[in-house]
Amino acid sequence: MHSITATGFIKGKVVLIVLSVLFSGCLRGSLSKNNSGEYKKGMVVSAHPSSSKVGLDILKKGGNAVDAAVAVQFALAVVYPGAGNLGGGGFMVYRSASGELATLDFREKAPGKASRDMYLDSSGNAVTEMSLFGHLAAGVPGSVDGMVKAHEKFGKLSWAEVVQPALDLARKGFPITDSQVEEFTELQENIKKYNPGKSYFIKEKWAKGDSWIQEDLAKTLELIRDKGRDGFYAGEVADHIEAEMISGGGLISKEDLKNYQSQWREPLIGNYKDYKVITMPPTSSGGIALLQLLNSVEEFPLSKWGHNSDSTVQVVVEAERRVYADRASHLGDPDFYKVPQKYLVNPIYSKYRMKDFNWEKATLSTDIKAGEVPKENEETTHFSIVDREGNAVSVTTTLNGGYGSMVFVKGAGFLLNNEMDDFSVKPGTPNMYGLLGGEANSIVPGKRMLSSMTPTILEKGGELFMVVGTPGGSTIITSVFQTILNVIEFDMGMQAAVNAKKFHHQWYPDVVTVEQGGLDTLVRNKLEKKGYIFKERKAIGRVDAILKTQWGYYEGGADPRGDDTKMGW
Ligand code: DON
Repeated sequence: MHSITATGFIKGKVVLIVLSVLFSGCLRGSLSKNNSGEYKKGMVVSAHPSSSKVGLDILKKGGNAVDAAVAVQFALAVVYPGAGNLGGGGFMVYRSASGELATLDFREKAPGKASRDMYLDSSGNAVTEMSLFGHLAAGVPGSVDGMVKAHEKFGKLSWAEVVQPALDLARKGFPITDSQVEEFTELQENIKKYNPGKSYFIKEKWAKGDSWIQEDLAKTLELIRDKGRDGFYAGEVADHIEAEMISGGGLISKEDLKNYQSQWREPLIGNYKDYKVITMPPTSSGGIALLQLLNSVEEFPLSKWGHNSDSTVQVVVEAERRVYADRASHLGDPDFYKVPQKYLVNPIYSKYRMKDFNWEKATLSTDIKAGEVPKENEETTHFSIVDREGNAVSVTTTLNGGYGSMVFVKGAGFLLNNEMDDFSVKPGTPNMYGLLGGEANSIVPGKRMLSSMTPTILEKGGELFMVVGTPGGSTIITSVFQTILNVIEFDMGMQAAVNAKKFHHQWYPDVVTVEQGGLDTLVRNKLEKKGYIFKERKAIGRVDAILKTQWGYYEGGADPRGDDTKMGW
């Protein structure tokens, strides 16, 4: 059915080794960075000014990067409810100043009563609304357990100290940003639809400078502060979640909550030129895909060709096409599916995969009906933190779509995710990001749904170099990839690399999505003649990243596409 398959390597390693010899010689990008000049003791970059301030205050108080990360995660649940969460999940990548590495998977899981065909109607057709909105769309939340585990292992301040700032924001209120005024107002209809009869959460009319107090959420945070994990997965909050599920026909049970455990996983490590790339293994697809993308382009002279030049765009698009094809068939929860990780991240494999592209003509993703182009929905969130000692944390966390399932837990004041849509609901049926999947990512009780979130840390010469990540659904992987290339290959500083326009290809639909004005008309015309189809979109990604400059200062990159804020000291 597809012109690109991912099985060549597994069938014939010898061929690959021979082919790989054909790719030799690589150009190394040189680095010249702007010295932002101010911040040597630490930095926080996150999606909202109030959450960045919470993180910085924790660092100044003597907390380390993990303390600050836990505080920021909880603060985002209060001030940035579209993606910050208690009712969702995420991934953390950690690197200590001395080079100790850890990755934590606090991704949601399918409830015990979930089943493979739960989103199919009686004729076997996928009913995507059910996996996207309402009670059935929610997986068992992982964020609170994740924060507890991260803090137990690496935290320095007390648990109460890191939870308290979020509680204060919920109880005393915080100023909403101008873009939130618009967003909260637009949200009314859906909130009413999926929360019939509930009066709490988001009031109808908002004005600039309004302060928002969330007392139910404050009570939940108080329980989390005082009882840790049990403040959320047992007792009052578990009762509220159960009652919510019963009232709305959802599946999450108290047993599911009791059983939920986030998981430390072996960090995924690769190399790109002189850089070591530390990233998230499955249940993220992002880490494997990022290493594959870097391996695929490593031997092309990108810096000589230039940023967003026709040759660069062509090679990057062809790499992305092939890597997303692999994602669709080979990646899923490693606790349930044997992911051929070591083959996929072997540089020889990616070089082999790039052998068959033709400079004269776009490779076709071929023969199938196009899936939907990804929607503009930047509602996952990423934050990057470095502390005084140089410990670094990269966290991406989400409810999936903006405001998740739209269901808020009555009495507990938080929203539930719609992460079940990240499973492959039916082979060949794209999810909300147009991504395809199969057996590897089918629904099984207790299984985690595949994610594109790609929190990543880079080292150079054994030293911290970059902390990076972004929201953006399927575009996460390409945005992280292109941000890294912008710094390493195209000599951009962190902020410029974040600001730079991105483009994206995900195998299907066979379209290059490009940010408005992102490509020069001549470049675009040239590539269109070769068969590439472009579609413009307003924004791709919201990267929040930190670069350690060669002068030892931290340069933040806070994405201007949102309210993202960098704060250092
Ligand atoms: O884990 C994933 O890949 C998705 N749930 C992420 C969703 C996302 O980034 C939405 N915001 N843009």
